Amino acid sequence: MSHAHIINLPKIEDPRGNLTFIEESRHVPFEIKRAYWIYDVPGGEKRGGHAFKEQQEFIIALSGSFDVVVKDGLQDYRFHLNRSYFGLCITHGLWREMVNFSTNSVALILSSTFYDSGDYIYNYDEFLNYRNKWRNSM
Ligand code: TYD
Repeated sequence: MSHAHIINLPKIEDPRGNLTFIEESRHVPFEIKRAYWIYDVPGGEKRGGHAFKEQQEFIIALSGSFDVVVKDGLQDYRFHLNRSYFGLCITHGLWREMVNFSTNSVALILSSTFYDSGDYIYNYDEFLNYRNKWRNSM
C-alpha cells in the first residue's frame, strides 16, 4: 500500500560546517533516476498538486522550509520539512502538494523514474477514481 514517511539521513557534524549524504537503495528505498529542485517560489505559491502512478520520490528541504500535504483519498497528512538532514519519502499513487514555502527555500526531489508526463494525474476526481479502483482490486 502507498504511504509517506520521514527518513532521517546521516549527519556528519563538524565545526567547519555539517555534511549530509544520501545513497540510493540504502537511505531511500528505490534507485534514483532523476533529481530536480524547486526554488525562487513566490510567497503564497503552491507546487505539486498532482499524483504519480509509478514515480516514488524523496523530498528534502535543502534550504528554508515548506509543507508537503499528502492525500490518499481517505485522509490528508501534512509534513513540515525544515532541515536538510531528513526528507519525506512518498510512494506512488498518492496526491501531493507543496505549500508554505519560506523565503529562499530550496526543495530537492529525488525520483525513482525519468520524467514522464504520462505518469501524472492532475485532476483530483480522476485521482479519487484511480484510488477507488486500486482499493477495490486489493
Ligand atoms: P511539475 O512536475 O508539474 O511541477 P510541480 O509538481 O512542482 O508543480 O512540472 C512543471 C513543468 O516542468 C512541466 O511542464 C514539466 C516540466 N518538468 C520537466 O520537464 N522535467 C522534470 O523532471 C520535471 C519535474 C518537470
